[in-house]
Amino acid sequence: MVERTLSIIKPDGTQRNLIGKIISRFEEEGLKIAAMQMKWLSRREAEGFYAVHKARPFFGELVDFMTSGPVVIMALEGKNAMAKNREIMGATNPAQAAPGTIRKEFSLSIGENTVHGSDSVENAAIEIAYFFPTTAIVTNQL
Ligand code: CMP
Repeated sequence: MVERTLSIIKPDGTQRNLIGKIISRFEEEGLKIAAMQMKWLSRREAEGFYAVHKARPFFGELVDFMTSGPVVIMALEGKNAMAKNREIMGATNPAQAAPGTIRKEFSLSIGENTVHGSDSVENAAIEIAYFFPTTAIVTNQL
């Protein structure tokens, strides 16, 4: 099933010049970029994006971190894109991430974990719509 998912390269990734390396992983695994934007999130945008985590003790820390530098936001497209992206990223906590995954290789901590990826196909549609109007998404399948 060709589907889309949302990916964010977090401030620790942009700060350490990992954008190209991370995008290469997605492309090497057959995912295509259907939309892409670099931006510095406002607190309001970050709080809205992570609203589901509002009651968690780490919410303030998460919003502080996500607004500490620019991020790269992408809609990735491909066969089983949501699950494939999660496989490429590895577990949320880099200490538990499998060898060869982005988080195992690059992440500093559970907070500074370099990439975000949607956790379900339903959430992917919501998250993509949060950042990209329909007109900014290109169907990238030839
Ligand atoms: P992400 O996939 O972006 O979704 C929510 C984020 O919250 C998650 O990645 C982590 O970066 C962050 N997070 C989850 N658990 C913790 C924690 N215990 N402490 C700090 N940040 C966390």
